[in-house]
Amino acid sequence: MNDKQSVAIAAAKHVQSGMLVGLGTGSTANYFIAELARRQREDALKITTAASSLVTTLYAQSLQLSVVAMEQLSAIDLYVDGADEFSADKTLLKGRGSDLVKEKLLAKAAKTFIAVAESSKQVDYIGQKFPIPIEVLPGAWQLAKRSLEDLGGLGDLRQNVAKDGYWVSSHGSLVLDMRFDPMHDAAQLNALINNTPGVVEHGIFFGLCDALLIANNGTVSEHWA
Ligand code: 5RP
Repeated sequence: MNDKQSVAIAAAKHVQSGMLVGLGTGSTANYFIAELARRQREDALKITTAASSLVTTLYAQSLQLSVVAMEQLSAIDLYVDGADEFSADKTLLKGRGSDLVKEKLLAKAAKTFIAVAESSKQVDYIGQKFPIPIEVLPGAWQLAKRSLEDLGGLGDLRQNVAKDGYWVSSHGSLVLDMRFDPMHDAAQLNALINNTPGVVEHGIFFGLCDALLIANNGTVSEHWA
């Protein structure tokens, strides 16, 4: 079993019958979804789920999990998702994919948000390894970029995979991948980006995570708030 699978299975132990469970997006989240489906099949676990992306919806439904539309939700019991980076204060960087808008909505709506990651994703400060993905209104990308540059950000629009156009998120936003001076701490950067007109959402998940489950060579440690 690899570390992504170990940590996902550890997170699934926090799921109880009757829960409405939010499903993240990515390879670690997929192991969590597979484990929920196994428990539904073999242990009579009875749950409803809400998905953070189309790809997760389709995967969960293919495993016979019941998925409710986000429009029907006002709160969920538990959200489990992976991350690209995490820091000691449980701030996360997410959004390498296209789905951070729904991911953050579910993380915020959850009574408990458990993030799952391999220990190699730990950083000293958010943005150390990856730029911060910032989803912007298509018509406002230049204005938003200029405002972010005024905050010290450096970066540009993310290109599509073929590099012949621009990446469009599942929400329909363009994505600015921006690096900032590490002198901004995550709380400050989160507030500054939140306050930038034209920004739809961004990949810093600050103050949202209740527990971080970290896998290191087969051993999973749990870090609760
Ligand atoms: C997608 C995410 C993912 O959770 C993050 O990229 C981690 O992915 P993986 O579990 O495949 O390593 O934030 O927006």
